[in-house]
Amino acid sequence: MVEIDPDITRASTLPSKYYTDPVIFESLLNQFKATWNYVGHTSQYEENTILPININREPMVVTKSGGKFSCLSNVCTHRGMILQSEKECKKTLTCPYHGRTFSLDGMLKQMPEFESTEDFPSKKDNLEHFSIEFWNQLIFISQDPDSPLLDCMKEVTERMKFLGLHELRHDSSRERNYTIDANWALYVDNYLEGFHIPFVHKDLNNALEYNQYETEVFDGGVLQIGIAQEGVPFFEIPDGHKDSGKKIAAYYWWVYPNLMLNFYPWGLSLNVVRPLSVDKTEICYSGFILDEQLLGQGAGGDLDKVELEDQFIVESCQLGMKSSSYQRGRYSPTMERGVHHFHRILTSRL
Ligand code: FES
Ligand SMILES: [Fe+2]
Repeated sequence: MVEIDPDITRASTLPSKYYTDPVIFESLLNQFKATWNYVGHTSQYEENTILPININREPMVVTKSGGKFSCLSNVCTHRGMILQSEKECKKTLTCPYHGRTFSLDGMLKQMPEFESTEDFPSKKDNLEHFSIEFWNQLIFISQDPDSPLLDCMKEVTERMKFLGLHELRHDSSRERNYTIDANWALYVDNYLEGFHIPFVHKDLNNALEYNQYETEVFDGGVLQIGIAQEGVPFFEIPDGHKDSGKKIAAYYWWVYPNLMLNFYPWGLSLNVVRPLSVDKTEICYSGFILDEQLLGQGAGGDLDKVELEDQFIVESCQLGMKSSSYQRGRYSPTMERGVHHFHRILTSRL
């Protein structure tokens, strides 16, 4: 596999086949099994909720029963029927095919016409469990985690805890799902640099000081910091904090491979990048409020507009990736350290 030179001044960017080759896509997707995926806020789950969700083409359900959350396979252990097709509140999961019934913690409860089947039921007839963990009431699941969620979120938690993260309130009016015709990694590339802001986001460019845009890289992620222009809301950062004294309008966190946490003085906008196929990606937005009065202002103002501006770019680049005249480019050492870091992680983990 192609290496990305650790020295950004010498490195070339990720070759175009990473964005277009279905075989490379599949092996990259395998890595997603080890990472954490946001699946909702605890306030969205009443008692006995069953929520089907597909992640990395794995059909799953998130359930809440007796106050306890589980993430289970959504595939019937009899002959593989999908058990639940939409969100519902009920005490059991019943297969629509032949009536096999499970409790919301995945135990097989009942199955007609199996009285004379030997060694039945066994453990194998229960639904498989996936890992489920929490970060400030936000629920994450993983198929095969290689580290605990709180470890992956350590940098974010440390830097952002001054906000009182446990007070984030889920706002259902900020939920959005977009499907775009582009590879997931192009969407991430674009997210990881502020280089394009003056060209692509005219309004956002009037909120942030381009020359003071900062990028920090860390193990498993990137932090970008946008400094507020005059009159734009910024965080009140306590004394003693690493960023105290700075007028920060936005913290843009990316956690490998597909989680984006955008903190603004009004709260948090969270994006999950879900690869659907080599050239199709779903972007899922959720929002969490801290200070209602600051909504709609500054860098975190019209996020829908910024999103559409980015989608146009990313979809166009996907066409460029398919061109026989483009293989790879070079990095700006001042503006593309985040993109370079992402490409280094991606290629080193393959
Ligand atoms: S496939 Fe579910 S009961 Fe037969
Ligand atoms: Fe952008």
